[in-house]
Amino acid sequence: MHTPIMEMFGLESPIFAFSHCRDVVAAVSRSGGMGTLGTSHFTADQLELELKWLDEHAEGKPYGVDVLFPATARKEFENLKVEDLDRILPREHREFVSNLLKKHEVPEFSKEQSEEILEEYMNELTRTHREAERRLEVVYRHPNAKMIVSALGTPPEHVIKRTHDLGLKVAGLIGHPKHAKKQADADVDIIIAQGWEAAGHTGELSTLVLVPEVVDLVSPKPVLAAGGIGTGRQMAAAMALGAQGVWCGSIWLGTVESEVSPELKAKIFAANSSDTLRSRCGTGKPARRLRSDWVTAWEEPGAPQALPMPLQSMLVNEALERITRFRSDSLLSYPVGQIVGRINEETTTRQVIYDMLTEFSDTIDRLNDSLAG
Ligand SMILES: Cc1cc2nc3c(=O)[nH]c(=O)nc-3n(C[C@H](O)[C@H](O)[C@H](O)COP(=O)(O)O)c2cc1C
Repeated sequence: MHTPIMEMFGLESPIFAFSHCRDVVAAVSRSGGMGTLGTSHFTADQLELELKWLDEHAEGKPYGVDVLFPATARKEFENLKVEDLDRILPREHREFVSNLLKKHEVPEFSKEQSEEILEEYMNELTRTHREAERRLEVVYRHPNAKMIVSALGTPPEHVIKRTHDLGLKVAGLIGHPKHAKKQADADVDIIIAQGWEAAGHTGELSTLVLVPEVVDLVSPKPVLAAGGIGTGRQMAAAMALGAQGVWCGSIWLGTVESEVSPELKAKIFAANSSDTLRSRCGTGKPARRLRSDWVTAWEEPGAPQALPMPLQSMLVNEALERITRFRSDSLLSYPVGQIVGRINEETTTRQVIYDMLTEFSDTIDRLNDSLAG
């Protein structure tokens, strides 16, 4: 199989992976695809360590790095400090979160722990352009990082230019044709068209509808199809729609390499394809997550409306840390897409890729046979 995007990066297969876990990223790149590391959980110093590790474990193969450039992250949010939170986060919201965790008997952090988490979050992890650019300066120091991916908005013009000048490609993740056009006009090299089945922030169009529309709109720029792709048949469908490759996120969560805890993995294996919800509860923007009491509580009558990005993350960051750290089963949730229903047992990243490519090839043969005969 050869598509121009494979040639762009020297790949053996057009399988692109998004993961917050460096082991998945390295395994995909080593297998001939291209892993991309999500950075929203890392400070710039942590990211430096992650990329150093990737350089040592990806056998010199290329990898990508994903940063968020939220179109709505206004400058005024960049300099908020911990002491501003009391003023800026409504009391009703803080009480709602606090009562929900109390109801589910989630233990509290000590005052010091809580302050430390909040300080680190506010100083280095807020979803603002300042943080995205700070991370990119780290990325540029690593020569095997060949692509930056921007989600939630088009990177500023100077970022695209600097990235190109340094020899990296820029990809933009979008959920609507109008955003694809905006990214293409801004000189973004690759468009990742992500349908609403996907994990994480999504728009409202399905992959089947979105991908061909975007392919036609931005041609000849390469398009990767994302959302609901985890098998060879789904990959064949994506390529038939005109995509040059696939961009997968959820499917890696069930692998041995994945970052998720055994408790969360068990929930993922048990879930069926309708056990996800698109909710603003995590970041303020609609994002698909595994259904849990944390997610459904925000949908109930009387629940406060989620705050706009990046304030919602500031509101819930510590709560999500507590839920994860103390493994509160009823509240535990994570971004995952509708293909969760097909993630039923632990496997390896390599096996996922092997199975996808085998089924892809069988599917093409079957279609050819059915046409011939
Ligand atoms: C756990 C998880 C976290 C994600 N976080 C991000 C993120 O921070 N930035 C981003 O661009 N995409 C993120 N995504 C979305 C993926 O990039 C990808 O588009 C999506 O998973 C594709 O659909 P699928 O889940 O059906 O494979 C995330 C996906 C998962 C599974």
